[in-house]
Amino acid sequence: MTLLEFNNLFKSKLIARIDKNELDEFFFWLIDHFCNCSRMDYILNSSTKIPKTQEQNLKNSIDSLLNEMPIQYVIGETNFMNLIFKLNNSVLIPRPETEELVRWIINDEHTNKNILDIGTGSGCIAVSLSKNLNNCKVTGWDISEDIIKIANHNATLNNVTVEFELSDITKPKLVDNKYDVIVSNPPYVTIKEKKFISNNVKFFEPYTALFVEDDDPLYFYKKIFDFSNTNLKPNGFLYLEINENFSKEVIKLLKDKGFYDIKLKNDFRSKNRMIKAVKK
Ligand SMILES: C[S@@+](CC[C@H](N)C(=O)[O-])C[C@H]1O[C@@H](n2cnc3c(N)ncnc32)[C@H](O)[C@@H]1O
Repeated sequence: MTLLEFNNLFKSKLIARIDKNELDEFFFWLIDHFCNCSRMDYILNSSTKIPKTQEQNLKNSIDSLLNEMPIQYVIGETNFMNLIFKLNNSVLIPRPETEELVRWIINDEHTNKNILDIGTGSGCIAVSLSKNLNNCKVTGWDISEDIIKIANHNATLNNVTVEFELSDITKPKLVDNKYDVIVSNPPYVTIKEKKFISNNVKFFEPYTALFVEDDDPLYFYKKIFDFSNTNLKPNGFLYLEINENFSKEVIKLLKDKGFYDIKLKNDFRSKNRMIKAVKK
């Protein structure tokens, strides 16, 4: 099969399911990933024959996409802050709004800081901070060996040192040195909101990365604030990604816990998405 023939097959199978522009993007991601063939290579020579193993991989990708698997899991990686992150379905696919949170922290120009990322997943926040901030010691916590393995792999891939550790924020490990900065994008989607979530997220992304109980939507924020009360230095910074429907509640909780200089920011979709606060 040639690249052009695969393109025709790909489009004929998926056009009813996936938007045309997105489909073009997916096609180029796949041939780049499996055949090391760039957009320009394709334009110049779409009659190139695809070797048998790669043809099979590409055909399997069609099946995966038909089953609504996100393209990032199909190719096993994504781009975040211009870095490559390997993924499997034990970790959440990093989102563009999380890049905005990371850029906020980078723009604050922290140097020589001790930073903790709670619920690190692929390590996208921790690795990007380590890459972009000077002389910072970055630690990332999560709850399973599989997740820590991927995060470690991503630190190595991006040539940074990050200490990834198993630690559950509901019963956190004891820490020797207090942190200057704590960042977290914790699970914040309520079960009630599940009906608004697309199938490829619901069926493929890890439940424990996404969802919280309806009767306690701020569960993880409470745990993070309690931990920060003892483990964030005075005048240390807390950066959080939040559910746009609970910004007022998170801010109230922060005030109740004695944080000050609380700033709320919108994401690129104009939703209340991130908060910065300072500890007394
Ligand atoms: C919304 S995801 C964020 C992942 C990554 N930081 C990102 O921004 O793409 C939430 C993460 O919190 C982790 N998590 C869930 N419960 C946790 C707990 N009790 N303690 C620590 N991390 C937890 C999940 O495994 C998941 O990786």
